[in-house]
Amino acid sequence: MIILGIETSCDDTSAAIIKGPELLSNIISTQLIHQQFGGIVPELASRSHIQMIGPVLRQALDAASLSKRDIQGIAVTYGPGLAGSLLVGLCVAKGLSISLGIPMVGINHLEGHIWANKLSHPTLEPPFITLIVSGGHTQTVYVKSWREYQVLGRTRDDAAGEAFDKVAKLLKLGFPGGPVIEKLARENSNSTPDFPRAMMDKGNLDFSFSGLKTAVLNHTLDVGVEGTQQNLSSIASGFQEAVVDVLVEKTIRAAKRVKVSQICIGGGVAVNKVLQRTMKERGQKAGLSILWPEATMCMDNGAMIALAGYDYLKRGETSPISLSPVPSLNL
Ligand code: KG4
Ligand code: ZN
Repeated sequence: MIILGIETSCDDTSAAIIKGPELLSNIISTQLIHQQFGGIVPELASRSHIQMIGPVLRQALDAASLSKRDIQGIAVTYGPGLAGSLLVGLCVAKGLSISLGIPMVGINHLEGHIWANKLSHPTLEPPFITLIVSGGHTQTVYVKSWREYQVLGRTRDDAAGEAFDKVAKLLKLGFPGGPVIEKLARENSNSTPDFPRAMMDKGNLDFSFSGLKTAVLNHTLDVGVEGTQQNLSSIASGFQEAVVDVLVEKTIRAAKRVKVSQICIGGGVAVNKVLQRTMKERGQKAGLSILWPEATMCMDNGAMIALAGYDYLKRGETSPISLSPVPSLNL
């Protein structure tokens, strides 16, 4: 079965083609227009999707050496995400579904991030814990079987990626914050400020990052503009350590709680090398195996949506043509 996956939930326009579970192409166009605003501007995101979805689709077909008539099913993200952005992908999926006379299925973006692990590790099977960690989400999910999910912990305020972005903005480092903070932290050779780890009390699986952001702000006020500029790399490193520490501790806790031996990571923050290394080191010490997808499968992409869609479409499960975006869709 040849399936087209479409992902437009936030600021990446992506289309991918799979044949059965085999990936044939995965094209991702990341919107750079938001950098000048220090965050994603929803209206610009939808306008940019409108411009890019045609060329991205064309490239995905060309890279797979297929024409649109070869597609047998469509999987499209219908939430969570920005309403206007989701609408672009949904409308294209519906147009193709009607004109080609093929089925369409709406996919939960978070379910896509879970399936992304299977793209990089084809033998992966549940049960496992996934940490979904991106600009919009931070949650640990117990994947009991494909399709059977239980959210064990989630952020009470900011997502971890959002905290990276807000701290980068505060330090005037640009957007998105994650890559630049990771790079700066790597350059640090000094001791780091001791930033707080929130909600670490025993048994708690939820996350909170807004207090950490405020602690970084207070630190910059204490040391002043010059002190901040001179210590950017140690502030970045201390902040990153605090985020990683909490993410790793809570994810391992979640795995122990439900007695599973595998942990997967997904979402844009999952490309962070310090997170990967720390999760691997501490996880292995606790007797757990740790996996993460390759970098293009961590970020938002059509391939993970196509693979999730394959699981539905091969069982004949489809969505009605009236499917609407659900911006706050849960797992
Ligand atoms: O999954 P994603 O591409 O989009 C969604 O938010 O759904 O994730 C983007 C987020 C941004 O907040 C960005 O700062 C963060 O992932 N990010 C990183 C790194 N690269 C991207 N965070 C930490 N370290 C990184 N290297
Ligand atoms: Zn995402």
